[in-house]
Amino acid sequence: MKKKLLAMALVAAMTVSMAACGGSSSAPAADNSGSEAATEEAATEEAATEEAAAPAEGAMKIGISMPTQSLERWNRDGQYLDEQFKAAGYETILTYSDNQSDRQVNDIQNMIAEGVNLLIVAAIDGEALNTAMNEAAEQNIPVISYDRLILNDAVSYYVSFDNYTVGKLQGEFVRDTLDLDNAGDKVYNIEFTAGDPADNNAGYFFNGAFDTLSPYIESGVLNVVSGQTDFDSVATDQWSTDTALERAQNILGSYYADGTQLDVWLCSNDSTALGVAQAITSDYAGSNSVIITGQDGDEANLKNIVDGIQTMTVYKNVANEAIVTMGLAEAMLKGETIDASLCDTFGIECAYDTESYQTSEGNKCPSFLLVPSVITKDNLQELVDTGLYTMGEDGYLAATK
Ligand code: BGC
Repeated sequence: MKKKLLAMALVAAMTVSMAACGGSSSAPAADNSGSEAATEEAATEEAATEEAAAPAEGAMKIGISMPTQSLERWNRDGQYLDEQFKAAGYETILTYSDNQSDRQVNDIQNMIAEGVNLLIVAAIDGEALNTAMNEAAEQNIPVISYDRLILNDAVSYYVSFDNYTVGKLQGEFVRDTLDLDNAGDKVYNIEFTAGDPADNNAGYFFNGAFDTLSPYIESGVLNVVSGQTDFDSVATDQWSTDTALERAQNILGSYYADGTQLDVWLCSNDSTALGVAQAITSDYAGSNSVIITGQDGDEANLKNIVDGIQTMTVYKNVANEAIVTMGLAEAMLKGETIDASLCDTFGIECAYDTESYQTSEGNKCPSFLLVPSVITKDNLQELVDTGLYTMGEDGYLAATK
């Protein structure tokens, strides 16, 4: 019994010194041989496109675990992160886990066995990585939760966008486009499609949008014809385009086949918006154009925006997310003080938020939250200006990598 208590105390002590989200905010210091300080230039897209030099003998190793290659953005995230760490002299291991949590646990365990010095993880399921996270904690390997929060105190920091604001921007776009504050007696019909319940972000996106629009639902200006307004009813497992398509077809068949006009379909992201847009094209009886929201700036959705099939997307510059993540990782590995000034270092707008996210009851997770923006047909040039997209002669945007 005594032995067990001692072992538990040791594990607990280790977890506290390791994990900022679990209490202590001191980053574990580590030998940083082989790592150069990342200059802003080193992390620019120009440097990232160059073939990275082979890592020096004894270079530190970074494990980058992404959820899947089937959703467009994670290919970009993985690539940007990988290129930037390599350009700064690190060795990297990059994996995609095909949206299977047990595979992600396995991938992370392999990285730990390979002796990584730090882990960057975008979780498939925020609650399903405990085995791997506990191993990381036992081996003093710091973890940055990337984009999606892992609900485990082994996480040291969280880097993401302001997820609630993503949904809020979608809701505000609908409110302003329809001028809901001056709608008079007019009633607009709306449906909702949210994301994967296993993804901690999904609830934030949905709440941001729903909180913005619910006053209009309550006052009767907006009418959810299907009656499906709670997150569980509108959620989409694995953010699947096909699942979103199928549900949209069912709703259109059940509630709109009689000619009822649909005005808005609020979708939390682009992969679901793609399915909803497809259903509207094939199964909607009306001839009005339906407002469809999204998030990410996936190529297929940008094409739909140009063609007037999707109305907006909330853009998140994931190259910048990768830059902030690398800066944070370097600061952690060098045992530097980590605070709000990190964002300024990169000239990237982001907030250091120590209140909004927690990895477990009462354990707040210090977070660096970048700022999302709205993209419509009218400001596509802003994407071109990032250098991450080009405008083709056909009038459609293509990601530069
Ligand atoms: C990301 C979104 C993405 C979604 C599906 C979320 O966690 O924040 O950008 O659209 O996952 O991949």
